[in-house]
Amino acid sequence: MTEYIEYDLLIVGSGIAGLRAAIESAKQNDTLRIAVISKVQVMRSHSVSAEGGTAAVLFENEGDNMESHIYDTIKGSDFLADQDVAEKLCLEIPKEIYQLEHWGMPWSRRKDGKIAQRNFGGYSYPGATYASDKVGFFEMQTLYDTCLKFDNIEFFNEWYVTSIIHDDKKFLGVTAIEISTGAFYTIKGTALIIASGGAGRMYSYSTYALSSTPDGLDMAYRAGMALKDMEFVQFHPTGILPSGILITEGARGEGGYLLNNNGERFMKQYAAEKMELAPRDIVSRAIMTEITHNRGFIHETGVQCMQLDLRHIGDDILKEKLGAIREISFKFSNIDPAKEPLYIRPVCHYMMGGIHTNIDGATELQGVWAAGEAACNSIHGANRLGANSTSECMVWGKITANMAVNYIANAQSESQFPHHLVDAEEKRIYDGIFRGGGKMNPYEIREKLTGILNDKAYVYRKESELIDGLKKIRELRNTSWRRVDDHAQEYNTNFINVMELDSMFRVAEVILLGATYRKESRGSHARIDYPHRDDNNFLHHTLVYYDINDPIMKKHPVTITKYKPVERKY
Ligand code: FUM
Repeated sequence: MTEYIEYDLLIVGSGIAGLRAAIESAKQNDTLRIAVISKVQVMRSHSVSAEGGTAAVLFENEGDNMESHIYDTIKGSDFLADQDVAEKLCLEIPKEIYQLEHWGMPWSRRKDGKIAQRNFGGYSYPGATYASDKVGFFEMQTLYDTCLKFDNIEFFNEWYVTSIIHDDKKFLGVTAIEISTGAFYTIKGTALIIASGGAGRMYSYSTYALSSTPDGLDMAYRAGMALKDMEFVQFHPTGILPSGILITEGARGEGGYLLNNNGERFMKQYAAEKMELAPRDIVSRAIMTEITHNRGFIHETGVQCMQLDLRHIGDDILKEKLGAIREISFKFSNIDPAKEPLYIRPVCHYMMGGIHTNIDGATELQGVWAAGEAACNSIHGANRLGANSTSECMVWGKITANMAVNYIANAQSESQFPHHLVDAEEKRIYDGIFRGGGKMNPYEIREKLTGILNDKAYVYRKESELIDGLKKIRELRNTSWRRVDDHAQEYNTNFINVMELDSMFRVAEVILLGATYRKESRGSHARIDYPHRDDNNFLHHTLVYYDINDPIMKKHPVTITKYKPVERKY
């Protein structure tokens, strides 16, 4: 049996985008009842692990300029970014940097007292604003503390949202499990902002928090909204071995080298000008090419990799500017980066794709917006530049909140609530999954699924492997994995894990389908069998809609304002 509660605005996800949205909506209307619903405690949201920076033009008087942030973002995207959206990000983010500062953000400082910025991949000017290498942690702490100043923001921590309830035209509420008690709730609402983050835990080698599964994407997908450009998965060049924990691009921004087994800075063959600070897609492709030509290293775990050398940076700078990755190197790799190079390999780090939205974050369902990594407003196209993600979360957290607040102010009150949809959802999750009676161990199935994506849809892809991956995912989905051994009500993480697996199957299929159909190489999607970008046939976004039989694929145009696609050179 469900219990009903009601708020005006529901925000699913408590990372940077969700918290920024909560603050903005609370500021706009102090009578609005705002619920921030998250499957984790706020400060365990994956945003806390953002390390290196938030991109913004702050010093036009010193040589940076707006035009280059816009163009760098579009060029970095391999010309698949919607150019009006890129422009919006770049124009809005400087205000957010100062807004954070006014809320208490401890940005690192230059000697002259101004906010410090560092270099990042693909930029013409060092515009990644930083707070040591714990940017996400400090941003989250600042935003959370600010949220607590508003009495109309209520947090539902450790609540797992299962589905969106709507009447085919507009949003009416969500269903959710309170993890601590196991109680099943319907939370009615007028507007929803989905800020549930990325889903990189679908890959076995990943920088993401364990909680980064595609529940938010999947609930939008099942509710009829398209997932867009999901074939574009970003592999960050430097995941430390063996865990895959992120070694920030800031390490190369501060001067780190990438070395092959001849001791060469191999990036000179691939991006002679930018070297280690080429965009991530180019650096990750280069690493994998070197490995394929036997110029890599074999880590003690047997994995092929490259070296990241930070020794010449010196211990003092490492301690001051890269303290977190210094600690990670010691604790997770047993290496002192001031004395020995680190072993790294491209690692799943970000999804350029997500829930299809317009420039304002509006989805295809009235009353629903998406912000941050869960959204695909097409700002990053085929490859995101580092430090543009926390920027996006701040800017679209604010924009979507304003949109939702306006919508709520003009919304008509609803007479009929479709209780039968809640009954159907209860049946889906309790009869279908909780009492699913499966035979296989779902944890083993989950490991297989993440391994398939890692093997078949990694940095370099090819048709036969993608088709094989799709076949394997579908076969795995048809096995008997709906099994929950723990029948406790309270803190049943076994149940939540199997629910997550359910969403992983649908979204993994979308990634593989998109990657199979896109017969070109663009940004993070590098096809061995189609090594060139093909603007004649593929300068468009991919939309995938859920269907009970097979997903439905469509094309969506790219917005080009003034920057004609050209070949990228770095
Ligand atoms: O390397 C990094 O610090 C990652 C930043 C980002 O993904 O934006």
